[in-house]
Amino acid sequence: RYLNRFLCLDDFETVARRRLPRQIYGYYSGAAETGRSLRANRESYAELALMPRVLIDTHARSTVTSLFGKSFTQPVGIAPMGLSALSSFRGDIALARAAAEEGALMVASATSLTPLETMGAEGATRWFQAYLPGDRERIAAMLRRVGNAGFETIVLTVDVQVPANRENNVRTGFSIPLRPSPRLLWDGVCHPRWSCGTFLRTLASGMPHFENMDAFRGPAILSRTAERNIGTRERLSWEHVKFIRDNWKGRFVIKGILSSEDTAHARNAGADGVWISNHGGRQLDSAIAPLLVLQEVTREAGEMAVLIDGGIRRGTDVLKALALGADFVFIGRPFLYASVAAGGFGVRHALRLIQAEIMRDMAMLGVNTINELSPAHVRKFAAAQF
Ligand code: FNR
Repeated sequence: RYLNRFLCLDDFETVARRRLPRQIYGYYSGAAETGRSLRANRESYAELALMPRVLIDTHARSTVTSLFGKSFTQPVGIAPMGLSALSSFRGDIALARAAAEEGALMVASATSLTPLETMGAEGATRWFQAYLPGDRERIAAMLRRVGNAGFETIVLTVDVQVPANRENNVRTGFSIPLRPSPRLLWDGVCHPRWSCGTFLRTLASGMPHFENMDAFRGPAILSRTAERNIGTRERLSWEHVKFIRDNWKGRFVIKGILSSEDTAHARNAGADGVWISNHGGRQLDSAIAPLLVLQEVTREAGEMAVLIDGGIRRGTDVLKALALGADFVFIGRPFLYASVAAGGFGVRHALRLIQAEIMRDMAMLGVNTINELSPAHVRKFAAAQF
């Protein structure tokens, strides 16, 4: 009954903002510098119009979508998000389980607080997002670690060459690891539900703050191994990508691509997919909105799968991206907020809401299957012809 108040994905944010300490809410919701890319992501969808076709029998329509030979109930997955373990008690496991229960896809994050071995043993997701260092020996060791944990698909995120400039984190006093301060303590006291229900419970359960950024487990996130990873990540190049391809037997996706040139590089290096993303506006501020490059990337992608994220909040957004050539889309922040609001139940509810929107919109758009969507279903709002 509590969940009935959440009518769309955006509804979860209001509750999350109230319930989370400012530092955590700021980290989840924040973006780099001026937030231009964050806004551009939303605007890019708002500027596209849909072209419905009518009097088509759609009573047997379906949102089922397959990706890399696996079938999912809908073309929407949960994007990898750092610190999702703090969205609710064992939040990242809650996200993975909720997705599995709904037949949806969730990607485990390299900056989760849960060791990737634990996530792998859960079996709820077989997709792991990696940050890899620019050092072959350590890449090979990390790939072995990810493979041994049972993951089948690796997503290499390539748009975090250096830590981004997120001024709001400095302003709220957020840091990793969280440094105790009177402000932090006071904020914790003011948000007892999260402090007791999630944070203290996490500490009490002895959750090891292992990190997933290197072949060796470190004692705390962004400990020295992680710093070494970041320190060498600026060196990561297409040479390393070829090396990863040669040393990884499963599916290989590159996340953080925005140009057709890099799509060609990814194809030549043997990637199975490109994931168009500006990291939800959290890395290079003013980086172009993924939707605006979708068609050129799709033209260059060849056999590779094209995935996309950033600013997708509605069934209509999902249909616009699919119409312009995406094979699959991902949503980030709203699922974290859903986890804050009601744990795994909240995440399942959020997945059902977006699926219901897609189903309803497909009927009004006149399509029966995801594959029927084409560029003929979209126009620019501004470019109306008379
Ligand atoms: C992210 N994102 C991200 N991406 C990634 O590859 N590895 C990571 O560890 C993280 N961490 C992370 C934390 C938080 C709090 C957020 C909000 C995002 C980016 C994420 O995968 C995705 O690209 C964006 O969130 C998509 O944009 P929307 O849907 O949030 O607008």
